[in-house]
Amino acid sequence: MIIDNLSVINLRKIKIFAESFCRNTNVITGKNGSGKTSILEAIFFISHAKSFRKKYSQALISNNQKELQIKIETDRSTVKGFYNKKRKVFYKNSEIIKKTSQLSEEILIVCMSPEEIDIIEEYNNEKQKYFDRIIFKIKKEHIKNIKDYKKLIVYRNTLLENKMETDPWDNKIMELGNKIWKIRKDFFKYFIKKYKEVEKKIEIKNRYEIKYISSVLEKQKYLIELRKKNKSNKTEVGPHKDKIKFFINGSEVKEHASQGEKKIFKYILKLTEAEILKKEKRTNPIVLIDDFFAKLDGENIMKIFSYFHCKFQTIITTTNTDNKILEKLKNKQTKIFTFND
Ligand SMILES: Nc1ncnc2c1ncn2[C@@H]1O[C@H](COP(=O)(O)OP(=O)(O)OP(=O)(O)O)[C@@H](O)[C@H]1O
Ligand SMILES: [Mg+2]
Repeated sequence: MIIDNLSVINLRKIKIFAESFCRNTNVITGKNGSGKTSILEAIFFISHAKSFRKKYSQALISNNQKELQIKIETDRSTVKGFYNKKRKVFYKNSEIIKKTSQLSEEILIVCMSPEEIDIIEEYNNEKQKYFDRIIFKIKKEHIKNIKDYKKLIVYRNTLLENKMETDPWDNKIMELGNKIWKIRKDFFKYFIKKYKEVEKKIEIKNRYEIKYISSVLEKQKYLIELRKKNKSNKTEVGPHKDKIKFFINGSEVKEHASQGEKKIFKYILKLTEAEILKKEKRTNPIVLIDDFFAKLDGENIMKIFSYFHCKFQTIITTTNTDNKILEKLKNKQTKIFTFND
């Protein structure tokens, strides 16, 4: 998939932007606050109906303006989005898009930004969500399973708190729990294998490791564990207790890795996701990288760059306008946009 043209109106400080992108690497440079990240947000918004920044989406609409408009022309379709604080409406060609999950089918992206939730620093729950969101893209039934499971756990915990019987719900929880475990187990096996391939190709010095720790239980055992009395009055077994851990040369990434090492690890995770989407969706996702050069040394920049360049259409942002590496990139089928304040 390739984005040919992007136009936006009333996006944060940008009144109007209309440009065409090249099919390889596009670099948006400019000073702090010139609107670089906003451009990536616009593309993300058309793919996910929200921003990747942690804050709420309303700030996307320029102050004192009524409506944000975004139009993306890809090699497959034209997708438009209109957002006026109350309503978000999306169109594929001239037809309205009814489900937001359809958006990511039209604009398939992998996005990395320092402004998203930090998967290394966050609690386990966020790690689960991070990987579940990738599974959602390739296995739609997982969305419903996770939603239903969460509701059941909330319900069950309320019953436990009120010292009421949970029996009628336990079988349903167990069934769903087993489905989720199966999907996650298969997924992590696949993801870790792909991750290792990407890591090998990039030839980075450190060895990273991803561990998915779940206590998959057979039905009978599950039921016994589920019904064990516990002090917390909460459901203590099930996929919501799965753990995901990251290691660098045998030690936990969170505690041991430097800032650059953490960033490289996150990049490899994202590039793995891109490879998986490419295979499963039979089209190349577009890769968005916000603040690409920050915290990375020249050697690592070139290693990551060489991996994605000419493989995926990529849009990267950077504040480095007179960087030597940028000079090098200029000769390599890239398109450079400079944002002036
Ligand atoms: N709703 C809004 N209306 C008008 N301006 C806004 C709005 N929301 C944010 N801004 C401003 O838009 C600008 C663009 O922010 P953006 O994050 O895109 O910049 P950037 O080029 O990525 O900067 P940096 O290099 O610091 O990451 C900022 O100056 C911000 O204050
Ligand atoms: Mg930015």
